[in-house]
Amino acid sequence: MTLRQKLSQLTQLDSSFFLKYGTSELTGPLHGMNIKEEDVACCGSVLGAIGADVTREIQEKHLAADPLKIPVLFMLDVIHGFRTIFPINLGLACAWEPETARQAAEISAKEAAASGIHVSFAPMEDLVRDPRWGRVMESTGEDPYLNSLYSAAFVKGFQGNDLREPDRVAACIKHIAGYGAAEAGRDYNTTEIGLNTLFEFYMPAYRAAVDAGAAMAMASFNALNGVPSTANRWLLNDILRKKWGFKGTVISDWGAVEKLRMHGVAKDRKEAAYKALNAGIDIEMMTSDYLQFGEELVREGKINEAEIDAAVLRVLDLKDRLGLFEDPYRSASADNEKLLLLCEEHRKAACEAAAKSMVLLENNGILPLKKGMRVALIGPFAEGKDILGGWGCTGRFDETVSVYDAVKASGYFSEVTAAYGAGFDGADDAELEKAVKTAENSDVAVLLIGEHQDMSGEAASRTDISLPAAQKKLFDKIVKTGKPVITVIFSGRPLLLSETAERSEALIQAWFPGTEGGRAVADLITGKTEPQGRLTMSFPRNMGQIPLYYNAFSTGRPVTGENPAERYLSKYIDSPNTPLYPFGYGLSYSHTEISGVSCEVSGDKATVTAEVKNTGERETTETVQIYIRDMYASVVRPVKQLKAFKKVRLMPGESEKIIFELGRESFSFYKEDGDLHFEGGR
Ligand code: NOJ
Repeated sequence: MTLRQKLSQLTQLDSSFFLKYGTSELTGPLHGMNIKEEDVACCGSVLGAIGADVTREIQEKHLAADPLKIPVLFMLDVIHGFRTIFPINLGLACAWEPETARQAAEISAKEAAASGIHVSFAPMEDLVRDPRWGRVMESTGEDPYLNSLYSAAFVKGFQGNDLREPDRVAACIKHIAGYGAAEAGRDYNTTEIGLNTLFEFYMPAYRAAVDAGAAMAMASFNALNGVPSTANRWLLNDILRKKWGFKGTVISDWGAVEKLRMHGVAKDRKEAAYKALNAGIDIEMMTSDYLQFGEELVREGKINEAEIDAAVLRVLDLKDRLGLFEDPYRSASADNEKLLLLCEEHRKAACEAAAKSMVLLENNGILPLKKGMRVALIGPFAEGKDILGGWGCTGRFDETVSVYDAVKASGYFSEVTAAYGAGFDGADDAELEKAVKTAENSDVAVLLIGEHQDMSGEAASRTDISLPAAQKKLFDKIVKTGKPVITVIFSGRPLLLSETAERSEALIQAWFPGTEGGRAVADLITGKTEPQGRLTMSFPRNMGQIPLYYNAFSTGRPVTGENPAERYLSKYIDSPNTPLYPFGYGLSYSHTEISGVSCEVSGDKATVTAEVKNTGERETTETVQIYIRDMYASVVRPVKQLKAFKKVRLMPGESEKIIFELGRESFSFYKEDGDLHFEGGR
């Protein structure tokens, strides 16, 4: 390969370039990027091509044009489903079932592979603490232990045991590192993460994905303690590759190489290319600095060609592991698409996952609703099908089950009516009036409100995470009718729900539940399924508490039971410290009691035993959670840390003995050096 051909392998372009080979249309984009048609012909990977017909056409044209006949890789953001859309990842996490995530990823891989995708830009495993950040919807929450289990499960689901199986796709861990700590929740903002916090909280989930064998990794947009990840050799080389043993391919985020100039760490594009190459970025996404300046950098001796070779080998190795040299089309075909995309089995899995992801936050006993009632479904998500959530764009609204469709089809109620009520930008008086009338003519109003799906996700940070004003107005009007109100919240983040909770008879957090979301809501309110979700991100009471997370480091002046009246404590004078709903919280339709908790320590191992009993009248699922607190150590420890959990299904009156064994690793922790330490103590 010539050096230029090698640099082409390290360049990722979007599908528009490839569909336009040999046409004058190509001149425009090429001119913008200052690259030649031969460069496109040798390009290594394609972003954003969707559909077997499109990917096959691109691959065919590419193989005809490329003198080296190296197949291209197709990469796409398959985040929570491909055609069958699962709940957003924050919802999937609330199921506390990594196995459900594994299954969701496996189904997504099958569908995406049938359309010709080879790599999914997932899992996103950024730990999050700030619900102002729109991308909390893509994460699995605020706990490093739970995040790590999910991270590994997603990787296994996408990749299986052998990437060569044509219905598998390569996983890409992202965004390394600490993107979730964007200051003030403003997307793309800088981060300030102390090394102990970085290793203890932010790194474990990425590392779990490395250990699970993820084939790719993506560097994050943010600067980490002054150095953008894209130029951070310590991060990508010393930690990711050397310390963690990652052997896969590293890609930049969208345009991030060039953005090193905006960060102010590269004086021009040539220096940006140098810094990214030197840091260990193999593939440059959507800009062409490697192509434009790589040859010069090698000529000048700034970059050793052997380093370029190593990066190219990592790209070729990925192609080889995926079996592309034997079959560049793998399972991409219209027939496979017909067979697999949104097939019954996938719909069923999405429905189960959606039901498990929903969290019952309040219930005064009204849920499940009684059979034969007259029910009014009110709000933009009553008949609305835009419940797929960010990155759900490969799914289709016309294939999505709305709440109204599902509730009506259930045949459970004597009458089902629906009204839109209000949108997200403003409320129309006539629509509001119609909604009020609809509620008045019913026995119970189910309010399906929240934020529009475009209000969370990438580049969707908010300074106020309340319900949009128009939604609040609708809520107020319906509550004032005096009808009992059940509120179901659709959102990509925790919202401020104090008032909503107080004035509703029951409150369900439904997230953006995906293709089968409507059915999942219908099943929950009719009692066909039991609510079993538990939060994985704290719900604050007000904006001022943010960032608020359960596993905070202890302080020298904590608020404890004995001293709440004291002034000089770590607290506010106008709000409690506690969240509205904590991490791990969620109700069921039944009740459980935990008793007989005991702990035996022998050597480095602690065995915790407890009995959990269903004391209510319905079958239920409880998630028993074990937290520890390290009372003293050489460094400050979190006030609480999740170490194990178990979901148990119990019939009324049934009990089960649960045994957790916590080993040495449960009591070890990461310090600034990035190593696990085990200290004695209490
Ligand atoms: C930018 C996002 O930050 C990243 O998560 C995504 O994978 C890329 N765009 C590609 O779409």
